[in-house]
Amino acid sequence: MKVLLIAGARPNFMKIAPIYRESLKYDQVECRIVHTGQHYDYDMSQAFFEDLELPEPDFFLNAGSGTHGVQTAKIMVAFEKLCEEERPDLVIVVGDVNSTLACSIVAKKALIEVAHVEAGLRSFDLTMPEEINRMVTDSISDYFFVTEESGEKNLLKEGRPKEKIHFVGNVMIDNLFYQAKKLENYDGKGFSTFKLKEKNNDYVFLTLHRPSNVDTKESFEEIAFALNQIATERPIFFPVHPRTRKMMEQFDISFSENIHLLSPLGFKEALFLWKDAALVMTDSGGLQEETTAMGVPCVTLRENTERPITIAMGTNVLGGTSKDSILKSYRDSMKKKKEFSMPPKWDGRAAERIWKVLCG
Ligand code: UD1
Repeated sequence: MKVLLIAGARPNFMKIAPIYRESLKYDQVECRIVHTGQHYDYDMSQAFFEDLELPEPDFFLNAGSGTHGVQTAKIMVAFEKLCEEERPDLVIVVGDVNSTLACSIVAKKALIEVAHVEAGLRSFDLTMPEEINRMVTDSISDYFFVTEESGEKNLLKEGRPKEKIHFVGNVMIDNLFYQAKKLENYDGKGFSTFKLKEKNNDYVFLTLHRPSNVDTKESFEEIAFALNQIATERPIFFPVHPRTRKMMEQFDISFSENIHLLSPLGFKEALFLWKDAALVMTDSGGLQEETTAMGVPCVTLRENTERPITIAMGTNVLGGTSKDSILKSYRDSMKKKKEFSMPPKWDGRAAERIWKVLCG
């Protein structure tokens, strides 16, 4: 079976790593990695391949940045050519980024089967580009690999056939456990943030990059106000995404000295910091799940989440995006640690279950 495994943007790399590793156990599977080039900076892309022990991609499509239309189209044109040349039996896409959408449409039109890993998640917020990507990908996929029960329910409601939906668990958590184990035997002295962490043992770890939060001056200023307030009580470690860096400069947003602005971090170094944080504040999808799996309190800087299990069972709370709601969620989280338990099948074996389904 010839398989193309697609990755384009940072959160994809963590998800394909366990799928790729597990594929090596099957002699009948030839799994090739396609990097669309949606993310291309060293610290957004190559650093992750090294950190996650992924081999160099077999194919690089060099799409780069652009508007949604331009980026999606560039990936589609390049991937169509690749599909013609390679004629794979199956294309595996993960998550909800533009590369996921672009490659699933191309494969399906070329009569190649599509497997979507992390299918069925819904924020029900169509102002999020990722929600559109998720819905379109799920409307044409042949295999739906689901991370939590809500995914299965959403897919059934949308009329997807039950026999094609497989509740396998979460490959993001497979990767997290694998990497956390490696970190157990490492003191972190080689990380650029080692000294920062040594000096501050009670800190908040922050990530922020959603267009809805950083692409307008009003919303970015509102969030920055709350963060500057929080920084009077605790230092904040903030690896800054390139989109956020650009908007910070454009809107002239200033952060207090107690907010440590860092370059984007590799997977292990980010984990080294957030696993011991008093609190994680984030608008990322993956960190909501990863903090739940590690029992670290998390305030999500959004009005909704497509990952409701992290709230129902996990450590996550929705902090909203207004300064008052963010400050309230921060204070509540500091006062009382939320009870939590591990969501079903988040046990590090999702990739194993995926290949069992695919290889019968
Ligand atoms: C993308 C995903 C988002 C994911 C995020 C994680 C979509 C629709 N969005 O958003 O779901 O959470 O990745 O990072 O697919 N840039 C660089 N270097 C890079 C990549 C981007 O400087 O390597 C800059 C460019 O100026 C670009 C901007 O960041 O315009 C945004 O990049 P883009 O890939 O369009 O979206 P993300 O915000 O990264």
